[in-house]
Amino acid sequence: MRELLLCPPDYYGIEYEINPWMSRARGAEAAVAQKQWRGLHAILSKLNCKIELVPPQPKLPDMVFTANAGLAVGKQFIPSNFRHKERAGEAPHFASWMEKRGFQVSWLSNDYYFEGEGDALFAGDILFCGYKFRSDIKSHRAVAEMLGCLVVSAELVDPRFYHLDTCFCPLPDGAAVWFPAAFDEYGQHAIREHVSDLIDVAPEEAMHFCCNAVVIERDIVVPEGAPKLVAALTGRGYRCHQLPMTEFLKAGGACKCLTLFLPQREKI
Ligand code: ARG
Repeated sequence: MRELLLCPPDYYGIEYEINPWMSRARGAEAAVAQKQWRGLHAILSKLNCKIELVPPQPKLPDMVFTANAGLAVGKQFIPSNFRHKERAGEAPHFASWMEKRGFQVSWLSNDYYFEGEGDALFAGDILFCGYKFRSDIKSHRAVAEMLGCLVVSAELVDPRFYHLDTCFCPLPDGAAVWFPAAFDEYGQHAIREHVSDLIDVAPEEAMHFCCNAVVIERDIVVPEGAPKLVAALTGRGYRCHQLPMTEFLKAGGACKCLTLFLPQREKI
């Protein structure tokens, strides 16, 4: 059974602008956000996941995006060093929760920005890491050393797809869903080199954050608005669960951003 960390959206809102999706003029509807988040919680529970909740904190409206808490592998947890001061206050809350939960917390040097599972996803035994808008490439080597795994770094080039999990989603059969235009040429090459079965998403579906999906074995929880991807995944034998995520898209997030795996991988 997979364990997941979520954070209720009690203090969620668009209170600053740190990515191109966010506009204070276009606030999130609190009641709708609550309903959409409860929908995510309900489907993940139905998929037999054990869901843990970290208490939300006032004045930390993006704490709902638990994928950015850090990266958990086995019993080890590497907390994020957030690039933006607006989110930096989340880190101690997540770290102390993880510590209480029995994880061994290993901090990166604070010279390196790293935004956790949002920028670090395993495909097979390789940890793919995105960099530039949020995480620094230098953090990747430190993470590789801490975990003792192979890391492949890929540069992100489109500010709308500023975290790896907005444009790349590994699947358990060895394939991955991705939006190639979000990566520079070398990043595309590196991903193609290591993942032979790639499912390209159309730009209009990528804009609905269709890569931002939570994969639980053969079940995939994906934001609404990507019929072509859903058809492709269904054709491969996956069950897709499509959820409205409009209020979280206003912050530049969706299903996967709202979810952290505890852990993402057992020991390397
Ligand atoms: N507003 C948040 C930010 O800009 C959204 C984070 C989305 N998280 C993710 N893993 N892509 O940091």
